[in-house]
Amino acid sequence: MKTDPISRRDTLRLLGGTALAANAAAVSPGTLWASPQDEQPAEPPDVVADRARRMQWWHEATFGMFIHWGLYSVIGHHEWAMEKEGIPVPDYMRLDKVFKPQPHAARAWAKLAKQAGQKYMVMTTKHHEGFCHWETKLTDYCSPKQGPGRDLVAEFVEAVRGEGLRVGFYYSLMDWHHPDGARCATDDAARQRFVEYTHGLVRELMTNYGKIDVLWYDVDWPLNAEEWRSKEMNEMVFKLQPDIIVNDRNGLPGDFSTPEQEIVAAKAGRGWETCMTMNDSWGYNQNDDAWKSTKTIVRNLAECARGGGNYLLNIGPKPDGSVPEESIRILTETGQWMRRNGESIYAAERCRAGWHPYANFSRKGNTLYIHVHFWPAQTIGTETLPFEHPPVAVAIGGMRTKVTSAKLLASGKPVQFLQDDIAARFAGLPVAAPDQPVTVIEAQCESEPVIDSDYVRINRPRDGV
Ligand code: GLC
Repeated sequence: MKTDPISRRDTLRLLGGTALAANAAAVSPGTLWASPQDEQPAEPPDVVADRARRMQWWHEATFGMFIHWGLYSVIGHHEWAMEKEGIPVPDYMRLDKVFKPQPHAARAWAKLAKQAGQKYMVMTTKHHEGFCHWETKLTDYCSPKQGPGRDLVAEFVEAVRGEGLRVGFYYSLMDWHHPDGARCATDDAARQRFVEYTHGLVRELMTNYGKIDVLWYDVDWPLNAEEWRSKEMNEMVFKLQPDIIVNDRNGLPGDFSTPEQEIVAAKAGRGWETCMTMNDSWGYNQNDDAWKSTKTIVRNLAECARGGGNYLLNIGPKPDGSVPEESIRILTETGQWMRRNGESIYAAERCRAGWHPYANFSRKGNTLYIHVHFWPAQTIGTETLPFEHPPVAVAIGGMRTKVTSAKLLASGKPVQFLQDDIAARFAGLPVAAPDQPVTVIEAQCESEPVIDSDYVRINRPRDGV
C-alpha cells in the first residue's frame, strides 16, 4: 500500500475527528464535457443573446411539471389508446360528452407542483387525439363546447399563475381526429387546409391567454418543417410572445432539445430538458403500476442538473382532474428533499464529472455538490477492521480541483476532508446517511470543479502494471 494517497495514519486521524487541511496539487481540467466555448451555435450574436435572455428563468428553474390530460384519461389506458386499440374516430369522439372534470382541477396540480419545487408547468392543450382544451373558433371538438363546458386552458393558466409558476403549452401537430390530419401527407389541398388550421390554433393559444412562457410542440408526423411552414409558425409565435421559448419538435431546432424518457445532455451551449413519466404512461393509465421510487426521481433530477439540463416530470390526472395517489406521494417526498437540497439543483451548470458508483455531482460556479445515493458506511466486515467504529468516508477519485471547505447541504454541518493528487475523501461522517433518499455534500473549490475518473487509472502507480 506504499502508494496509497491517504496513509493509514491520516485515515485514523480523520476518523478520530481531527480537522485536516486539503493538500491537493494544482490541477489541469480533464475533457469530460466540452466547455461552452468549444461549440458556439452558428447563429448571429444577437440571436444567441436573445435566446439567453429568454431562457434564463428556465435554466434557473431546472424542474418542471408536465401534465397529460385529455379524453384518453376517461379510458384510462394511456394517451395512445385511440391508435393502439384501433378505436374508430366516431366512437372515440363520444368520449367528449363523458369527459366532465371537476372545476379548477388545475389548482391542485399547481399547488402540488409548487410544493414539489417545480417552477413551471406544461399542459397538453391538444394531444394526438385532436381534442382542444380551449375556446377555439376553429372546431367544435373542444372542451367549452363539449362535456367539460369550460375553457380548461384558461383554468390551467389561472391556476399556474396563482402559484407564481411559469406557464407552458404542449401542442401536438399530429392529429388523429381532423379529417386532413393524415390526408395532408398526400393531398395538397388537405395539407393547405390542415396547416392553416394548425397555425390558427397556435395563434389562438398565443393570443388569448396573456404571457405564455413555453410552447412545447410534439410529433410533427406526417409533414416536414417546410410543409408545416414551421419557420413562419415560430415567427408568428415570437411576434405574439416575444419572451417565449419553444422546443424542437416542429421540425426546427427551436430553443431547447427534448430527450424523452432518457437523460442525455445536449452539446455544450444548448438548452435541453428530459421529459419523463413517473410510471410508464403519460396519460392516465389506471393499471400502470410501474412507479419509480422517489429515490429514482431525485437521482434523475441530479443527473439532469449534472448536465446543466432540466427535468420535466409528468403527471397523468384522472378524468375528474384528480392526481393519482402515487404521483402525489412521489412529488411530495421529492419536494421535501428539494426544500433541503434545492440549492444543488436550481440553476445548476454543466458539471465536468463522470460516473461514480455511489454518488453523482452537480455544480454552480466553483461549488461542487456531491449527491451520495448509496451511503458508504462499512456495514459488513467491520469485525476485521482495526477501528472502534466503522469507517464512513465519501471518496472521490480523480478530484482535480482543490477543495477549500465542505459541509452537509441539508444541515450545514461541516465535513472534514483530505485531498491529494488522486482523490478527495470526505470523512468523520455518521454511519447512517444524514439525509434521504440522497445526501448532498457541498464542497467549495478553488476553481471550477473537475472530476476526471480516468485520471486515477492513468496516474495511480500500479507497480509497473
Ligand atoms: C411522445 C408520445 C406522446 C407524449 C410525448 C411526451 O411523443 O407520442 O404521447 O405526449 O412523447 O414527450
